[in-house]
Amino acid sequence: RTGRTFRIAAIPADGVGKEVVAAGRAVLDALAKGSGGAFAFAWEEFPWGCGHYAATGRMMDEDGLERLKAFDAIYFGAVGWPTVPDHVSLWGLRLAICQGFDQWANVRPVHFLPGVRSPLRAADDHDLNWVVVRENSEGEYAGLGGRNLSARGPGGEVAVQSSLFTEVGCERVIRFAFDLARTRARRKVSSVTKSNAQQHGMVLWDEVFRRVAGDYPDVETESVLVDAMSAKFVLRPQDLSVVVASNLHADILSDLGSALAGSLGLAASANLNPERRYPSMFEPVHGSAPDIAGRGLANPVGAVGSAALMLDHLGLPDEAARLHRAIAATTAAGVLTPDVGGSAGTEEVTAALIGALDG
Ligand code: NAI
Ligand code: MG
Repeated sequence: RTGRTFRIAAIPADGVGKEVVAAGRAVLDALAKGSGGAFAFAWEEFPWGCGHYAATGRMMDEDGLERLKAFDAIYFGAVGWPTVPDHVSLWGLRLAICQGFDQWANVRPVHFLPGVRSPLRAADDHDLNWVVVRENSEGEYAGLGGRNLSARGPGGEVAVQSSLFTEVGCERVIRFAFDLARTRARRKVSSVTKSNAQQHGMVLWDEVFRRVAGDYPDVETESVLVDAMSAKFVLRPQDLSVVVASNLHADILSDLGSALAGSLGLAASANLNPERRYPSMFEPVHGSAPDIAGRGLANPVGAVGSAALMLDHLGLPDEAARLHRAIAATTAAGVLTPDVGGSAGTEEVTAALIGALDG
């Protein structure tokens, strides 16, 4: 047993991010309390987000990254609110952390939970789960490009948004996906691109994928175009295990996966710096959900699932497994928020999760 205190930076940020981070903290603290001192969490909460922007003109303090460096991990809610343009809030906080800390692998598992009805019939016959690995440092979100107001006169503005694909960036995330596949029951990696239409960057990705696959003869592979993969998510989900894709494609596919599992509110994610030179960041996939924020209705399962990914990263795999079991026991018992067809609030689900920890 470690007897260790983990220092965690909590950044609830905006909307339901505040509600689900509070839920996740309560579950983690209950877990630590039950460990009989084997481990503990020391939390520091940062008030960054759109409220901070209104007060200071910045999404996070100027020395924010410097202060976050000292932590073992970052537990994040969701950023974005109608008072601030989304590209300003996202780049000013979440992308600043992901890119500043070289969290180049974004791991997004899709779990179909007992007691949550999926629109997918296949979910009735198969215990479906797969992991989307998202390239998290370049691709379509490299921020390259610009706008030229005067290029073609009034009304003729031109904007260019370029994608960046490097051999190093492709290789490290593809290798990560293969290593992950080796830890799973089904050893398979599906690579997703749109290399028929995007003939430079995505062709490079495909070539790197074929080369790296040669080092993993024990892992099954396939290369699928993104439009076909979106159909496959719906039609043949039992064929999926690890899905690796570029920043934009994996962003879209992981929302699709979590919606198929029942709700965006269920989906967890880890932004990893696998070299551990910087803290990694754990957050639900969903955004700040302004339509339900502040009403105690947010589904905390995505945030608690993200806490489980954090425990794995911190070297507590047994505790992570306990959290996963508590989630499944809670949904199986029908303690569900409205987004998955129930009538429980955030606090009721959180209490049920804590109650299920001993099981
Ligand atoms: P969203 O994920 O906030 O909401 C989409 C739909 O899912 C809404 O109907 C919402 O009620 C529902 N939903 C989301 N989380 C839920 C939860 N925990 N429980 C129950 N239902 C939930 O996406 P949207 O509306 O496109 O974006 C809202 C804001 O969030 C924007 O400012 C956007 O930029 C930001 N955003 C931030 C992300 C992040 O911080 N990682 C990711 C996605 C969006
Ligand atoms: Mg997204």
